[in-house]
Formats: sequence, C-alpha cells, structure tokens
Amino acid sequence: MTSDNRASEIAALLQLQAGAMQPGDKLPPVRTLSKTYGASPVTITAAITSLTALGVVRAEPGRGTFVAGWDGAGRDVAQEPDYAWQSSTLGRSRVDPVRADQSRAGRPGAKGTADHVQLSWGYLAPELQPFDELRTLGARCAKSHRAWTMAPPMGLPELRSAFAAGLGADAGDMLIMPGGQQSLVFAMRTLADPGSTLITESPSYPGAAFAAQAAGLNLAAVPADADGIRPDKLADALERTHAQLIYLQPNYANPTGSVLSPGRRVEVLELAKRHGAFIIEDDWARHLSLEGTAPAPLFTQDPDGHVVSIATLSKPAAPGLRVGAIAARGPAGERLRTARIADDMCVPALTQEIALGLLASTAWPRHLKRLRTGLRERRDAMVAEVQSSMPGARVEIIPTGGIHLWVKLPAGTDSTSLTAAAQDAGVLIGDGKQFYVDEPPAPYIRLSYSAASIAQIAQGVRRVATLL
Ligand SMILES: Cc1ncc(COP(=O)(O)O)c(C=O)c1O
Repeated sequence: MTSDNRASEIAALLQLQAGAMQPGDKLPPVRTLSKTYGASPVTITAAITSLTALGVVRAEPGRGTFVAGWDGAGRDVAQEPDYAWQSSTLGRSRVDPVRADQSRAGRPGAKGTADHVQLSWGYLAPELQPFDELRTLGARCAKSHRAWTMAPPMGLPELRSAFAAGLGADAGDMLIMPGGQQSLVFAMRTLADPGSTLITESPSYPGAAFAAQAAGLNLAAVPADADGIRPDKLADALERTHAQLIYLQPNYANPTGSVLSPGRRVEVLELAKRHGAFIIEDDWARHLSLEGTAPAPLFTQDPDGHVVSIATLSKPAAPGLRVGAIAARGPAGERLRTARIADDMCVPALTQEIALGLLASTAWPRHLKRLRTGLRERRDAMVAEVQSSMPGARVEIIPTGGIHLWVKLPAGTDSTSLTAAAQDAGVLIGDGKQFYVDEPPAPYIRLSYSAASIAQIAQGVRRVATLL
C-alpha cells in the first residue's frame, strides 16, 4: 500500500473517531495516534492535513488538533473568534462607549424590563400615540404603488411643504430625514469639519453629544439656566473655540424644560452672525407645548441662514415612524441636500406617505389637543408627587412644554447610585450626569412623564423618594 493510500485510510478512521467526539474536543497527539494506527507520524500528519482541509478538524499550532463543529452561518462553534485585530485597526472609538452604554439604559431592549416603571423613556406611551390613525393610514398607504416606489431624495414635495408650514420656509428649503437623531449627526457632519468644535448648551440632550462625537467634532459646553443658554458665556466660548456650530434647544429643552427667552434669542442670533456660526436648532418639542402656544422656532427670526432647524415626528406621533425634517437656507441648505444623496436614496416612501397622511388629516390637530391634555395631567401629577414625597429635592423649572422634569437632588446625593438603586427597585430614571459634557454642578435626575401612566408616575416617584 502506498503511503498516500495509508494516509487516506487513517483519515477515514480518524474522521470516525472525531465523529464520536464533541466539537472542541482535542484529538490525541500525533505520537499516540501513530501508535494507535501503527503508522508513521508523517502519515498521521498527512491524514490530519486532509481532514483539516475538509473542515472536520482544526489544527492549532502549539496547542494540538481539535474537532471542528460548524453552525448554520459557517462559523466553527468550537473556536473562539479572535477580534483583537479590529481594536488595533480601528483605534479609539469616536463615540464614548461608556456614556453611550449608560444612555441606552432605559431604552427598550436595554436594561430594565417591561415590569419597570418607565420614567426615563423620552417618547410617548402607546395610549398617547395616534395609534388608530397610524394603523388606518398604514394599511391604506401600503395599498398604493406610490408607497413602494423610490421617493425623491429630498422627500415627497407635499411632506416638505407640510414641514415648511410652521417655519415660514419654502418647501425647497426642506429635507425629509429619518428622524431627529439622524438629522443631528447629518447636519453636524455636513456643516463642520472633523476636529472643529461644536458648542452645546449645558445640560443638554446626550444624543447631540454623541452625534457630535460621531461627526468627529470637539465639544464645548456653555451653561444654560431657566432662560436658556447664557449669551455672555456663549460669547466667551465662541471667542475661545472659533466654533462653527452651536447646538440649541430653544423650546422646552431636554432635560430642563427651559425656553430661550425673547431677549436671549436676539443676542444668540447676533453672536452667530458676528462669528459666522451656524445654530443647529433642535425643535423636537414643536408640538408639545402644555401652556399657550410654543414660541416660534428661532429659524423664523433669522433671514440670513444661520439657523438650521430640525423637526421630528418621533416625539408627537410615534418613535418608530422615523420621519423628521431639516430646514436650511442658502448654500448650507444646498450642501445638506447634496450630501444627503451620498448617504442614502431616500426616507422610505411608505413612512413618508403615512406621515403626510397624518399631518394633513383633521385627526392631527385632534390628536395634538388630546396629547396636550394627557401630557399636562402627567406633568402635574409628577410635579405634585415630587414636591410631596421628595422634600429635599427641588424642581427649578415647571416645564411649560416637552416631556421631562429636571429634579435637583439634595447636596451630596450620588445621582448614579440613586439611578442604579431605582432600577433595582423597578423604576427607570435618567441620571443627571449623562446630560453634562463636563462635571455636573449639582446632583440631578431627569424624570420623564410621557411614557408612564399617572398611577405609574405616582408609584415610581414615591419608590425613588424612599431611596433618597
Ligand atoms: C432633544 C432630542 N432631540 C432629538 C431626539 C431624537 O429624536 P428621534 O427619535 O426623532 O431621532 C431626541 C430623542 O430622545 C431628543 O430628546
């Protein structure tokens, strides 16, 4: 018998032997196999090589030969994947992974379960969403061919007009986007170069800081108070950083509920003008005023194209809809609309059709009215509960819009430990630290009143109060 034939014969025997073992089990060493099968080490090695080529076994230099096992995706289940090379190739993560992880807490699918009282989720409870309208529109729109063709890259013309309406903008200034977060990162990436600085009011929405990090921007925080960002501090920061971008939530800011005062609106616009800077106006709470009418977006006060305004339907309608818009005038608008084509083809026509149907229907103002009542009741219940059951805590701003209550804790409280303890006690709350780029000046928590029922709000706040 030739040595090739002998190797094939031993390969067949070894295959049988491996078949009786578990994936990951180690085969005996060559010397032992050599004795077992009465063949030379060279013949045994040739047999193992042919079984390796067939994927029956896996030879690991210096460690031995192991029985291979493959899952449905073609991966060797017995082998630990080695991703170490990726970390050295990728270098440092732009988006701070620790903060991003903390920020995911409280979101569906993250920490917490359906049994937790949800005081951390910044979207509407299902009963506050216009579910019946969305369901009817969804079924109707899905039947039309228009919903399944490619929409124009800038969005459906009628939807662009609908978003332009409250802004005094032209439909041509609008760009339909898949929600607010994507609009933020897209605007930041398109309007500033990596390595430049974005100024954000502080405290502020952590997602905006992540968007800036994803766009490769440095962050500079400027303090805000009950009247919004401090213009004197903004002037200093603009001098110091030469920032091209300023991120603001002029109406019902997340997390504080502050509204930029009329006087400061003028000052902030003047500063943007003097420094040739853009203001990214995150106008997410446009439809969420709880008292009177919401102040007009900053965009309406700016004829010269400093303000780029972002709107979203995730907050007043449903988070899964993923439809929003950017309004931008002049070359910046052109640049955004051009850059959009590089990113993706369009927001799905189906969701645009549904959004358009919703905004154009008589059910929309009815929904907003019902929503306002529902949110106001929840806000009142939350404020009352915090004031009665958390004597050491302070609500500095009673929000006149939006969905969040910013609660100052007694000095010395560790907001992170409280947030963790609350989670263990079945309540999800927002740790105030997440809303600062730098160290917080005092301990805070953010309590959101949009995702829980009134009974849950009272129960949740009481439970957190016992932990203080
Ligand atoms: C202030 C602010 N802006 C933008 C967003 C993002 O909204 P969207 O769900 O439309 O991406 C959020 C969501 O939490 C937010 O709080």
